[in-house]
Amino acid sequence: MSQPLTIADLKTRARRRVPKMFFDYADSGAWTEGTYRANEEDFSKIKLRQRVLVDMTNRSLATTMAGQDASMPVALAPTGLCGMQHADGEMLAAKAAEEFGVPFTLSTMSICSIEDVASVTSKPFWFQLYVMKDRDFINSLIDRAKAAKCSALVLTLDLQVLGQRHKDLRNGLSAPPKWTLHHGIQLATKPFWCLDMLRTKRRGFGNIVGHAKNVSDLSSLSSWTAEQFDPQLSWADVAWIKERWGGKLILKGILDEEDARAAAGTGADAIIVSNHGGRQLDGAKSSISMLPRIVDAVGDQIEVHVDGGIRSGQDVLKAVALGAKGTYIGRPYLYGLGAMGKPGVTTALEIIRKELDVTMALCGKRDIQTVDHSVLAEMPF
Ligand SMILES: Cc1cc2nc3c(=O)[nH]c(=O)nc-3n(C[C@H](O)[C@H](O)[C@H](O)COP(=O)(O)O)c2cc1C
Repeated sequence: MSQPLTIADLKTRARRRVPKMFFDYADSGAWTEGTYRANEEDFSKIKLRQRVLVDMTNRSLATTMAGQDASMPVALAPTGLCGMQHADGEMLAAKAAEEFGVPFTLSTMSICSIEDVASVTSKPFWFQLYVMKDRDFINSLIDRAKAAKCSALVLTLDLQVLGQRHKDLRNGLSAPPKWTLHHGIQLATKPFWCLDMLRTKRRGFGNIVGHAKNVSDLSSLSSWTAEQFDPQLSWADVAWIKERWGGKLILKGILDEEDARAAAGTGADAIIVSNHGGRQLDGAKSSISMLPRIVDAVGDQIEVHVDGGIRSGQDVLKAVALGAKGTYIGRPYLYGLGAMGKPGVTTALEIIRKELDVTMALCGKRDIQTVDHSVLAEMPF
């Protein structure tokens, strides 16, 4: 098989290797998937400004995100069930990110636990928190993330109630997979995935089972998660979470200027302009199209990051040009992981780095820190 050259190549390979219910879980958005598509499509509306006869030697992509060094302005976004794209997926992705020098964010809804990831990494990773009604559980999660020396808490704000993804319902998605005939056929056609999965013991939600009250096994888990996301979460909750955590705080899921102003007022270190990869409010605008307005509103008060639809280094450059200090990729690394495990995550990062580096040079810039809207042919949104 030839070397994957694009994120789309990795997606094709992941589709071949990962059982349909888990591939679809990654490659899906809420309802009509309109916002999921818009996230990707709106990047192609942004045109770059070609420059010539500018010194393009000694280029640097290095930057910081929320005070943490990053070899390029890209972090791995938190993704639930990452360990179902590939056995021990979160541990593999975290190691790949560490070696590459970019932040890795572990989801509350991960398969490998905070402690699992800490056991295979030597630099701090970030932890993403979903706020559940069981506040004792949330406090203990925050304390576990502190004990594991996580260097930032990413608090997700856009999942107080769950958006609906039709594919997951049609596929009867569950972790671990159910043993119905339908699911058995899906698994039987992906033998390499199954072999890896048989070698690991990590097949449930590692941060939850055995830690949350009344969740001692997987049979009690699904009812617990369905009723636990807190629909009453408010800005006041951000204050006590910030206080209990006491470290770098990043607020994820801002898509509106008014919310951005409220977020800046909390004293958090950064916000992520995000619509959850089009998985929550279908019909919302793409993240990249909202980025310039949010940067205008709060860019002088708080660091602004963005995610959603980034599929190339060119997309990263465009996001930085529109004022993002950092970006996150979700599906691109999940496709790499599903396709090839840890080397696949590294390949996804390498593809993006190379595209970013060459694009920056052809736009006449040598240092990512100096990239601004002058690299764009016109302001798109
Ligand atoms: C399969 C999958 C699972 C996700 N799980 C979470 C999660 O557990 N917590 C969270 O804050 N965001 C989650 N997200 C959203 C991502 O963090 C991120 O916002 C999104 O993937 C960015 O869009 P992209 O996939 O187009 O890069 C998930 C996204 C995907 C694709």
